[in-house]
Amino acid sequence: MRITAKANSNIALIKYWGKRNSDLNLPAVGSISVTLEGLSTQTTTRFETGLQNDRLLLNGKKESGPALVRITRFLDIIRNTSGVSLKASVESNNNFPTAAGLASSASAFAALAASASKAAGLNLSDAQLSELARRGSGSAARSVFGGYVVMHRGERPDGSDSIAEPLAEKNFWDIRLCIAITTEKAKTINSTVGMTQSKASSVYYPAWVDTAETDLAEMRSALLAKDFQKVGELSEYSCLKMHALAMSGRPGVVYWNGTSVEVMHAVQSLRQTGIPAYFTIDAGPQVKVLCLPEDENRIKVMLQEIPGVLRVLKTRPGDGVQIIEATE
Ligand code: PMV
Repeated sequence: MRITAKANSNIALIKYWGKRNSDLNLPAVGSISVTLEGLSTQTTTRFETGLQNDRLLLNGKKESGPALVRITRFLDIIRNTSGVSLKASVESNNNFPTAAGLASSASAFAALAASASKAAGLNLSDAQLSELARRGSGSAARSVFGGYVVMHRGERPDGSDSIAEPLAEKNFWDIRLCIAITTEKAKTINSTVGMTQSKASSVYYPAWVDTAETDLAEMRSALLAKDFQKVGELSEYSCLKMHALAMSGRPGVVYWNGTSVEVMHAVQSLRQTGIPAYFTIDAGPQVKVLCLPEDENRIKVMLQEIPGVLRVLKTRPGDGVQIIEATE
């Protein structure tokens, strides 16, 4: 079967940073995210006779090297589970900048998990799909679900409880996100390297892990209560805490560029004028601004006027992964 799946990216409001097991990609902390409408990856997989190696076409370009190695490792998990031994042809397209902190790995591995598992004849439950997607990228486990999502750290050594589950569906609460794109270039230090450095050398790391459950519990109740101010404050807090951790490793990692910092200041100044807006940033320089529907347009205009901001995307809570085409 040739299966096409589509998954949206997501943004963590309470961040995941650090692994308790690198082989199985088990997170050291849980996280809470919103799946983002319209920032998607579409992936088609087919296991084919006659292929010597897996083939990857990413945004129209044939990939070899690290990107292909990562996909092959992931497909090996599916081959081991399904008993299919054929190599696969994978074609994947993102509709937003790849690897620049817009969580392209989240939508990519959620889409690949859904398309490749089905192409191999597996019929996985959402929980199993989330567990599989996590093997590709921790944040991908969350993109299996739409709306507001919680990812559990889990306790089991085999990772079967390190999965995401829905917290509230996308229509539960209409919040908006404006994304200030500050570069189109790929980031230089990927999240796995950054996390490994933080765990190995930051004196803040134990505190980060120790305080995670409190942050998650606070965010969960603020979200379910639709308390925008609380959700915004906690999002900024978790973002700055995660970046402080990344910066405090040896070597430290600074994911921001100058424009990211300008945008953070602009958002905080906006709040002084009474407009509720809060930022959050993943492992890259793009800044996502949380706001309410009635403020979305003026916030977009404000962000566009900041020197260095290339363009601004608007998004809102979106759907989980979907199979969109299946052919023989
Ligand atoms: O799943 P990864 O390896 O892309 O790491 C995600 C790390 C952050 O985006 C910074 C935080 C998060 O929870 O998404």
